Amino acid sequence: MADQFETVRGIIARFHQDRNHLIQAMYEIQDSLGYISDPIMAMVAEGFGIAKSEVAGVATFYPHFQLKAKARFVIRCCSGVVCEICGNADLREAVRKALRIKDGEMTRDGMFLLKVGGCLGACDKAPAMMINETLYGGLRPEDIPDLLQRVARRELAGGKA
Ligand code: FES
Repeated sequence: MADQFETVRGIIARFHQDRNHLIQAMYEIQDSLGYISDPIMAMVAEGFGIAKSEVAGVATFYPHFQLKAKARFVIRCCSGVVCEICGNADLREAVRKALRIKDGEMTRDGMFLLKVGGCLGACDKAPAMMINETLYGGLRPEDIPDLLQRVARRELAGGKA
């Protein structure tokens, strides 16, 4: 996080408190960090000599700005009827346990976000779940730790899910 703060300070400093460049600075910060969090908004406000509410107003007005970090991988566990019959509750529990997160939460390293929702349109592969755009069907709870490790390892090696 210290590096992130240095990056933000560097970007802000280039604009010499010129409010006409507030949005440009925020775009550059987001390009560097991927999002503009609450503490970063406070830094921007201080750097430009304006109220934090003004920065927050810009950040929430423009849909381009992300206010939270995005996970590298979004896991979508199906909670549709067919998958429920085929044991998706156990799969979801296996994911929660393997990643030590609850539904809707992201792992601390930003690697995985767990979402639970309706039918994925792959009922013939129930129980089904997706990791980003990749569909996985017929999974068993005991498959989950290895699957998540393979996905994370590929990501760290520069591959895809
Ligand atoms: S109910 Fe799970 S994919 Fe349709």
